[in-house]
Order: sequence, then structure tokens, then C-alpha cells
Amino acid sequence: MQARILIVDDEEGMREVCADTLELLESSVEVVQTGDPLEAEKILADQAFDLMISDIRMPGMDGVTLLGKAREHDPDLPVIMLTGFPSVDTAVASMKLGAVDYLTKPFLPDELLATVERFLDERRLRDENRLLRRQLETQRGRFGALVGDSPAMRKVFDVIERVADTDVDVLILGETGTGKELVARALHERSSRKSARFVPVDCGAIPENLLESEFFGHEKGAFTGAGSRSIGLLEYAHQGTFFLDELGELPALLQAKLLRSLQERKIRRVGGRAEIPVDLRVIAATGRDLKAEVAAGTFREDLFYRVNVVTVDLPPLRERGDDVLLLAEHFRGRCAEEMGKDVGAFSPEVREILREYRWPGNVRELQNVVRRGIAMARGDQVSVDDLPDHLVVNAGGTLGESAEGEELGFFDLRNRRLAAFEADYLARKLEEHGGDVTAAAKSAQIPRGTYYRLMKNHGLKAADFR
Ligand SMILES: Nc1ncnc2c1ncn2[C@@H]1O[C@H](COP(=O)(O)OP(=O)(O)OP(=O)(O)O)[C@@H](O)[C@H]1O
Ligand SMILES: [Mg+2]
Repeated sequence: MQARILIVDDEEGMREVCADTLELLESSVEVVQTGDPLEAEKILADQAFDLMISDIRMPGMDGVTLLGKAREHDPDLPVIMLTGFPSVDTAVASMKLGAVDYLTKPFLPDELLATVERFLDERRLRDENRLLRRQLETQRGRFGALVGDSPAMRKVFDVIERVADTDVDVLILGETGTGKELVARALHERSSRKSARFVPVDCGAIPENLLESEFFGHEKGAFTGAGSRSIGLLEYAHQGTFFLDELGELPALLQAKLLRSLQERKIRRVGGRAEIPVDLRVIAATGRDLKAEVAAGTFREDLFYRVNVVTVDLPPLRERGDDVLLLAEHFRGRCAEEMGKDVGAFSPEVREILREYRWPGNVRELQNVVRRGIAMARGDQVSVDDLPDHLVVNAGGTLGESAEGEELGFFDLRNRRLAAFEADYLARKLEEHGGDVTAAAKSAQIPRGTYYRLMKNHGLKAADFR
């Protein structure tokens, strides 16, 4: 969306300078200008702006009064005050109204640009956050704890919706951390079995020699150490949902026994004779390529087809587009509250990195990165400093490759390398000069305004170097 800026100054030359300078902004903006503050008041009453640039001394109405009027229509409107005669009084009066910055005439184009960009970025970020929150609100609870709005996830939700309240068995496929267990729970919660148990079993975590008795239970004295009768997990899940996690890890012998009980809907405890009826819905999950294992003969084909009546294919996080931001916002809210920290957002650079990163550990990895970011954050935002190094480094890609692993052309690669160099150079100069931007800019031999702008581009704050 194009940002709209109102310029109010009785001096036409000044308005022209501002308008011309704004043309240099990276994003194009729409500029409205007037020399009459009373006219400005009318314009503000029926048009929305993202920023106002206003002179202080004007005939008819002074800038501070106009600021007050503007805020009546938009309490958050950022305003830049231009003044030829900086006076402490007006500064204090308008600073109290918040989101105001001062520029003393004459100013350098870069000073104006830096201030305008900062305000516009803040406003954009705030709008985006508001949108994300609204999006989270509207879909909260619809699919249990599952967050997502991308086409790939909508497809998943659609399958959940259609099969949840049936008894068909479901196989959930997906890389590690994609939310397989969460989907299984959502299916259970939305079924008529929800008042009975959801029993998850990690097939890879139980030692092979104990698996059989864990699954089927055993009678007293069935084997050495079987002191008393014990019921198994299948029996325990009676009338509920049995979640076979990491199904691919199940040893061949158990595959056969499990298949038999699932088909006959009966189990027999180890060392026992009685057949015990069990009524179960089976949901299985795996991160392995079971089809290939069936083909290779390491996984039973009949069991595969038994549990794979319906497949839910969970896409990796990198294929879910802006869900990354939606999820990050979801975890931010939760973690900030848990930790009692008032961290309201991610810096624009951080959002960019989150969006670009490959997320081999998927949602679980994102959750950990956000938790760490909130814990590390010093201000009210998570900034690049608060991210683990490998995310920041990866954002630049390895030689010739982007974060997605695709080949980068010369120009893209050069731009990324240049950006990395800039950030590094600016930070080092700031460090050398203890956060004194004037001194850093002087030693770098570039104008101070430019230095500020570059710092902003890279999310650097002078205060962090003092
Ligand atoms: N769509 C989602 N919305 C909200 N939280 C999610 C989502 N997907 C995953 N999570 C969270 O991410 C973490 C990992 O999810 P889960 O344990 O379900 O993944 P998994 O696919 O079973 O992983 P693994 O293969 O490693 O067992 C959990 O804390 C879960 O709550
Ligand atoms: Mg799991």
C-alpha cells in the first residue's frame, strides 16, 4: 500500500524541497501539500495520512495547534515538525503529544529521509502486526491449537474437517516438527471419541523387548519380571484414539501382531488366553518414507494400507509462505506472556530473516527461535541480535545459493554480500566510537544523515554500542 504524506508549510520553496526529497524514498509515496494550516485542518478531517510534515510558525495557526487537531482524527499519526528557530517550549509541548520528531531548517535531505523512513516503517510494522493479530483471533480455536492460513495448511484443515468425526484410520506424514502430533490431537478433539482417551505411543522410544507387553499388556508371571497383571496401551485406549507415533520404527514382529489386533478388534495379553475386545480409532504418524520402505520390504504392506485409509500430508514450514509470521506472532504472544516480558513485535529485519530461513526443524524450531528471541530481547522488539547466529548467517546464503538452496545470479549474490559487508562495517565503526554516530560517520567519510539511514536499513541502534 502506498503511504500518504501531508506537507504543511507556508513557504512554497520549503514544500517543494520536501516533496522532491520524498521522491528519493525507496517506496513511492503520495504527497499532498498546502501552505495554509486552516486548509490543512480541513484536509485532515476527511483524508487519512500516514505521516504529516508541518512547519511550526505559520500565519493563521501554529504547527503545534495543527498537530493537536490532526491527532483528534488519528491519535497515532506520526508528525515531523520543521522549525527555523528551535525553541525548547514548543519542542516540549509537541513531544508530549508523542510520535513527533524535529528537524531544524535547513536540514540535509538524508535527515528528512531517515526520519520519514523510520516513522513509515514503524507504522507499517504496527499495521502488519495488527493484521496478523486479527488473523490469529479469527482462526483461534477452529483447529485446536493449529495455526495456519496458507493454502497448503487450508488443505490440511479441510481434510481434518472432513474425516475427524469418522472412524477411518489416518496416516499423518511430515518432516520433524511439522505438527503431526498436534494434527492427531485435533482429529481426536473433533471426533465423538473426544470424551475418551487420546493415547500417544512413540514406537521408536520403547525398547523392542518391552514393546509387546506395552502394547498388549501381560498376565501375572507371563515372563520373568511380570510380577502382576498389567493392561496394555491398546486396552487403555479403548473407545478412544490410539496414536502410533513414528510408525516407521515399529519392528517387524510387532507390525504383524498389531495388524492382527486392529483387524480383529481384539487383543490378547502376553501370557493370557482371553480375547479382549477393543474399540479404537488409529492415527499413525511418520517422518519416514513408508511407501519406499514398503517397496523395500522393510515395512508390511498390509499394515501400511490398514492405517493409511486417509493421508494427511503436512507441508514443511518453508512451503507455508506467511504462516511463518503468523506462527511467530502466535508464539510471541504466548512466550512474552509466560516470561512476563513486554515484547510486542519483531523488527522488520527479523521478519525478513524468519521468512527467508529454510526451517529444517520446522514449527518446533521456529517456536524455539521465538522463545529465545523473547528471552534475549532488550527493548520492546525482537531484533537481529536476539536471533541465533546460524539464522542470520544463513540469510545471506552460502556461495551462490539462497536460503532456499536455489542458485543465485551474480547480482543477487553481490547484493547480499554487499548488505552483509555494510552491516558489519557500520557496526564495527560504531563499536570503535562507542555508539557516537557523528564520529563513526566522520571516520567512514560519509555524511551523518546517510550513516543514520544505513544504520536503520540494517536495524542498528547507536544505543546498543554505548
Ligand atoms: N500449525 C501449528 N500451530 C501451532 N503450533 C504448532 C503447529 N505445528 C506445530 N506446532 C508446535 O510445534 C511443536 C512441534 O509439533 P509436533 O510435536 O506436533 O510435531 P511433530 O510433527 O510430531 O514432530 P516430530 O516428528 O519431531 O515428532 C509443538 O510444540 C507444537 O505445538
Ligand atoms: Mg511427534
